[in-house]
Amino acid sequence: MAAGCPMLDLRPGKEQTPMKASFRLMTLAVAALAMVAVTTPAARAGASHEEEKPERHEWSFAGVFGRFDKGQLRRGFKVYKEVCSTCHSIKMLAFRNLGQPGGPELSEKEVADLAASYKVKDGPNDTGEYFERTARPSDRFPPPFANEQAARAAMSGAYPPDMSVLVKARGYHRGFPGFLFDGLPGFSYQEHGADYIVSLLKGYKDAPEDFKVPDGQYYNVYMIGRRIGMPPPLSDGAVTYDDGAPQTVDQYAKDVTAFMAWVAEPSLVSRKKIGLGVISFLIVFAGLLYFTKRKIWSNVAH
Ligand code: HEC
Repeated sequence: MAAGCPMLDLRPGKEQTPMKASFRLMTLAVAALAMVAVTTPAARAGASHEEEKPERHEWSFAGVFGRFDKGQLRRGFKVYKEVCSTCHSIKMLAFRNLGQPGGPELSEKEVADLAASYKVKDGPNDTGEYFERTARPSDRFPPPFANEQAARAAMSGAYPPDMSVLVKARGYHRGFPGFLFDGLPGFSYQEHGADYIVSLLKGYKDAPEDFKVPDGQYYNVYMIGRRIGMPPPLSDGAVTYDDGAPQTVDQYAKDVTAFMAWVAEPSLVSRKKIGLGVISFLIVFAGLLYFTKRKIWSNVAH
């Protein structure tokens, strides 16, 4: 019975079969490992198409005590409105959100005036027609393109992604040993997406001679493959600030990114406050429990 089955062939002289099989398996495993090694980022780092690692920036909203800077959010909104909004939608943001505490905190009148300067699509009305009307504070920001196809047609095939949660959707790997510390209290760092976007906005360079940039694309050292379908959106002096902040690409990039970070998580500050409150409570509670335990067990012989 056993002799008929190759796996269980135990006759003398046949004992090498499993050895051969395991040797073949080992060869396969080594080959597979070699393939994985060749395709990992570390092995590809030498290739000229590999993107650069974004710089780390100082953010007012980083860390456990992080807060958004109202002035910066106002400036960032201005950059979004005057530059980015021609291509990027920000669908989750309603005009009235800009007046919320913790955000750019525009006054009620500023919000009403801003909304009134936009038109939105509404309908259907009593006769089943869609129509345009002046926006109200409760409306969301109208997108620049009617749909993705219209955007792609206007942008040589590239699609400007919606900005509502873009900060959360982008990032980079900090690698060893950085990632070991990212999750620890006091060290925790969650601003990778913001760092990436600032670097990307400042990352347009002249392409090296051996790098072919296809038509309708631009050379950017932080974009995957170093090619991006977005023309450089910022230039020094393009947006006028009225609070004396420098009118440079660097400042615009940081401000608009901080604004995007707020849109992606308007409740970040209250989340951090609650976290701090809970941790403080737990520390006090742990102390109380310790003394209670001592009291209860102090008279028990052991
Ligand atoms: C002329 C239109 C245009 C303007 C203005 C513009 N963008 Fe873009 N943006 C694009 C397009 C198109 C893409 C998609 C690029 C691609 O996929 O190659 C894009 C992509 C992006 C991305 C995503 C990159 C990635 O990792 O996929 C970010 C972030 C971004 N834009 C930020 C901004 C900011 C901030 C502004 C304003 C300062 C801005 N853009 C202004 C057209 C524009």
